[in-house]
Amino acid sequence: MALTQIPFGTTQAGAPVTAFCLTNRAGASVTLLDYGATIQALRMPDRQGSFTDVVLGYDTLSEYERGDGYLGATIGRVCNRIGGAAFQMHGKCYPLAKNDGENHLHGGWKGFDKYLWHAAPQGEDALCFSRLSPNGEEGYPGNLHVQVTFRLTEENALEIVYDADADQDTPVCLTNHSYFNLSGGGCVSEQQLQVSSHRITESDAHCLPTGRFLPVAGTALDFRTSRPLAAALDCDDPLLRAFGGCDHNFVLDVSPAASLYSPETGIEMTVETDLPGMQVYTANGLTSRAGKGGASMGPHGAVCLETQLFPNAMGFYAFPSPVLHAGEHLHSTTVYAFHTR
Ligand code: BGC
Repeated sequence: MALTQIPFGTTQAGAPVTAFCLTNRAGASVTLLDYGATIQALRMPDRQGSFTDVVLGYDTLSEYERGDGYLGATIGRVCNRIGGAAFQMHGKCYPLAKNDGENHLHGGWKGFDKYLWHAAPQGEDALCFSRLSPNGEEGYPGNLHVQVTFRLTEENALEIVYDADADQDTPVCLTNHSYFNLSGGGCVSEQQLQVSSHRITESDAHCLPTGRFLPVAGTALDFRTSRPLAAALDCDDPLLRAFGGCDHNFVLDVSPAASLYSPETGIEMTVETDLPGMQVYTANGLTSRAGKGGASMGPHGAVCLETQLFPNAMGFYAFPSPVLHAGEHLHSTTVYAFHTR
């Protein structure tokens, strides 16, 4: 395993940003930015042994700062949506930034994806990013010390470990917002998805949970056995029509939570997590534009498999609580593992 680092530009505020690259003996690699604790590139071998970059990203820091789509970034303090951009805790209402119509999305106007993190190598195969999210940031209570550690294994797995501590009770829900395309580009409709889930949290027109659960059986969201994403993207199921594709939280039954396979490259990715939910988002709202090396990006050009708690969880007692209590420690792991067939 080797760790190299190169400058990746300077933020508008004048801070230098670094791209760190971990490369294993097989030649697989991950490039990580301290800006947003972001996965900028992830190169995995295909069945011929050539390397394919399986995530969307940008070549320049200014594109990350402009920030369309949270490409590869760490999302927090609370990922996904919070209805009405406010939550109640201990009888008090906490108003948050309204950055998605009347609602709060992915931590607010300046979420964790827009901060420069402190980077520290951990051993020779991992990099740990940390930051202190101060009391009141984007409306959230308490100082939160958060760490995200990325480890690349010799077996071509990328392990992401989240750790956090707070000095006041606060909701916390962290995820990574990588856009996966296991063919390295083009539409993902022929890539095959399997999700170990028999129900989703039903959502309203604003992509907010209603509090009910909906079985996937008989809907276009039934990925209990692997099938091409086209089955969902090219159909007229009203569940997907409203969102222009898949943008749903699946309630996970078992681990591995999911697998994605490209018949073109033979690359298969499995997702393992200790979290109860996963938002499957087919990049429906991604602006059509050029990304890394001029590669075209746009709607259905990738799929995000965002492991997390359920959206708007503060609003529903039946959902697992996102509250991290003062003095408690949050520790959670998600692994994206790659092989070919
Ligand atoms: C959400 C989408 C949102 C997108 C923004 C996804 O995680 O599920 O609703 O539009 O992030 O990039």
